[in-house]
Amino acid sequence: MATTNSIIRDPSLAPEGKLKIDWAQAHMPVLNRIREEFERELPFKGLKVAISLHLEAKTAYLAKVIQAGGAQVAITGSNPLSTQDDVCAALAEDGITVFAKYNPTAEEYHDLLVKTVETKPDLIIDDGGDLVTILHTERQDLLATIRGGAEETTTGILRLKAMEKDGSLKFPMVAVNDAYCKHLFDNRYGTGQSVWDGINRTTNLVVAGKTVVVSGYGWCGKGVAMRAKGLGANVVVTEVDAIKAVEAYMDGFAVMPMDEAAKVGDFFVAVTGNKDVIRGTHFENMKDGAILSNAGHFDVEVNLVELAAMAVSKRTVRRNIEEYALKDGRRVYVLAEGRLVNLAAGDGHPAEIMDMTFALQALALRYANENYQSLGAKVINVPYELDEQVARTKLSAMGVAIDTLSGEQKAYLDSWTAH
Ligand code: NAI
Repeated sequence: MATTNSIIRDPSLAPEGKLKIDWAQAHMPVLNRIREEFERELPFKGLKVAISLHLEAKTAYLAKVIQAGGAQVAITGSNPLSTQDDVCAALAEDGITVFAKYNPTAEEYHDLLVKTVETKPDLIIDDGGDLVTILHTERQDLLATIRGGAEETTTGILRLKAMEKDGSLKFPMVAVNDAYCKHLFDNRYGTGQSVWDGINRTTNLVVAGKTVVVSGYGWCGKGVAMRAKGLGANVVVTEVDAIKAVEAYMDGFAVMPMDEAAKVGDFFVAVTGNKDVIRGTHFENMKDGAILSNAGHFDVEVNLVELAAMAVSKRTVRRNIEEYALKDGRRVYVLAEGRLVNLAAGDGHPAEIMDMTFALQALALRYANENYQSLGAKVINVPYELDEQVARTKLSAMGVAIDTLSGEQKAYLDSWTAH
């Protein structure tokens, strides 16, 4: 059943997209088990679900799992450059309504998000808060049907918490990012690996022996720094949080302010969720040939407006690499227009990692649907039992067994008098 109302680039790309989704599915055992459960129990029967996530193969499989749970699904991207047109075509052919294209204009991108909420969903999955923002600002008329939803990333949760605090949030949102099986693996190992995959395939340059500056030593930054070290780089971390800075230092990395780091870096990866982390005064001191990238959710971490103002010329020198020539002859390179380098210039996290993240998304959405009346318009933590369920299923899929507490051990841990 092909959907007729989808807006996609090219339906003829469906066979390639299907192969990509099949590959992802084959490496997502936890989500496969949830799919079987959903097919039996149909937890979303008769409901509409709207999704905004980076629209590549793993996300496509999540959409299919939710569809298998009985939902009518509409999906859009969560970044103009991370959508894959062949994957969109395959999903549209499978009866999912797709509003997404690679590299739409800013206006088109916004219209596609609006079209997705206009399907009047009961439940939403958001990544960075775009659907939630539209529903709470320009399209409040569509709030009525929404029961609740789930948010994927750190930046989206920060925004939801700000909304909860000033009383604007109108429905419960489950903070999937804050679950252990999300940020410990997706943010750290997923971002750590896929950022270097994106940078390496885009630049085709050596990392060993170079200086890599990682801004932000949060869950993502830890992964990016760890993998840079593994590739043989000298790693410098910049931070604003004293505790994270001590952690980076004791993990063996040099820690310094960006004013200093700007002078020594060959590669820069900003992954803070904050704006203007790399800006004018820093560009002034960079080495000729410095390569700048962002892995944070929005394209605000590297101030490209200031860089463009300082540049005498700008040109594309390779797919996803823009060269900014500065007045004194130095050249600074920006990857993927400063958008998340692992998704805009790569395929995102490995499927085995997204297996856990999207298993949590599927379970969190079900939880939101079954409990929305009692949850209230708040940011809700993923219940620990769901987190543990995902970890146990993952262990079993990997063929890894662990020990179990004996009765005596449990009693010992629960007691304050036992010796
Ligand atoms: P986090 O909150 O764990 O870490 C962010 C770190 O950045 C904090 O330690 C904070 O102190 C630091 N920071 C803030 N402003 C700074 C500044 N001006 N200079 C230096 N450090 C600064 O957040 P997490 O989970 O690491 O996420 C970071 C960003 O990456 C968010 O925007 C998140 O949505 C996004 N993200 C991207 C992924 C990807 O695939 N590229 C995957 C998951 C999250």
